Amino acid sequence: MVNCFHNQKSTILVVDDQSKNISILGKILQEQGYNLAFALSGKEALALVENNTPDLILLDLLMPEMDGLKVCEILKSNPKFKEIPVIFLTASHEEQHLISAFETGAADYVTKPFQKTELLARVKHHLKLKYQTIQLKIRETELIEALAYEKEISEFKNRIISVASHEFRSPMTVILGFTQLLLKHYPVFSQDKIFKYLSSIETSAKKITNMIDDLLTLSHIDAGQININPARINITEFCQKFVSEIKDSIAHDHDVELQILRDFQHLTKAIILDKKLLEYTLYNLISNAVKFSDKNTLIILGISYNNNYLIFKVSDQGMGVPLEEQKHLFDLFYRASNAKDIQGTGLGLNIIQRYIDLQGGKIEVESEENIGTTFTVFLPLNH
Ligand SMILES: Nc1ncnc2c1ncn2[C@@H]1O[C@H](COP(=O)(O)OP(=O)(O)OP(=O)(O)O)[C@@H](O)[C@H]1O
Ligand SMILES: [Mg+2]
Repeated sequence: MVNCFHNQKSTILVVDDQSKNISILGKILQEQGYNLAFALSGKEALALVENNTPDLILLDLLMPEMDGLKVCEILKSNPKFKEIPVIFLTASHEEQHLISAFETGAADYVTKPFQKTELLARVKHHLKLKYQTIQLKIRETELIEALAYEKEISEFKNRIISVASHEFRSPMTVILGFTQLLLKHYPVFSQDKIFKYLSSIETSAKKITNMIDDLLTLSHIDAGQININPARINITEFCQKFVSEIKDSIAHDHDVELQILRDFQHLTKAIILDKKLLEYTLYNLISNAVKFSDKNTLIILGISYNNNYLIFKVSDQGMGVPLEEQKHLFDLFYRASNAKDIQGTGLGLNIIQRYIDLQGGKIEVESEENIGTTFTVFLPLNH
């Protein structure tokens, strides 16, 4: 009989020093469609179990050299084999040994001469129990994993809520303060003052919008809702356009330079990348370089490649990151101790790292305080 609790046939190991018993049991079990293995001694049985773990063992109680009790004891002391149900085969006059058999961990026994229906019923019952136990264990592991995941998500959400409410407060205070001031006194304010206050309100509102965008991006990545859309791109043209746009927007007070460090015309492989993810990554690295370095200093975007990766380097001559803090830079909400007075939430690098992971790449940082920082992004060429 093919076991109905498992989509494969169960394997039963029969251990008995009497080949006559083995052949009787073998015939009964084979008729039912079980896979069989045989051993004529305890030692042989242990060697067989090592190579091909059976689903159940029928074990003769009294055998020369190593008896069934010893075999069972050895099996039950090994975590790899302790779940295999062992049914002892006993002659009726050996029944006094059964207490010891159960103490060593036996699941059941059958007495010789074998009653076919009784034998089969016990085998079937213990196989069923074994598979039910396995199913329960799988279910238990799944539940434990699901609970751990839920816990992680809920902790993550709590942290997001607490940081976001803290970070939203200062731009909201600016917006509220200036709006109330304008509402109350706008007739007496000069055009210049009104313009100044409105600009501050706009900047603060933009900060909040950026934070909301970052938080939404994070929750999308976490929920696996970010799809990679790789497409062929001309990387030098892309970077030239990108740098020119950056110079006109966030980096107009800095000197931004594109350095093509290796001739891309010699690259035989096509460059296939998700443009949006690349743009997001470079934009964030350059906005960090701008934020954390003085006006009029140099920021370099270097592009290159090796056999496996396309390589982007963003270097600045800014404040750098203290050595002992560098390992935390990609942690969620992490901000270095020397950056606390500069606006930011510590989300940017974490999002970048997740994006790069999604694409099978990696990111590294080298930094020296008051000298500068270089972030290097590696994206697989044949992704
Ligand atoms: N180029 C850099 N020079 C010096 N420090 C940097 C540089 N880039 C990142 N850091 C440090 O790493 C921290 C984390 O950077 P990240 O981009 O994640 O956050 P942020 O810029 O502070 O805020 P956000 O990007 O979310 O607006 C920064 O707060 C800063 O301490
Ligand atoms: Mg940033």
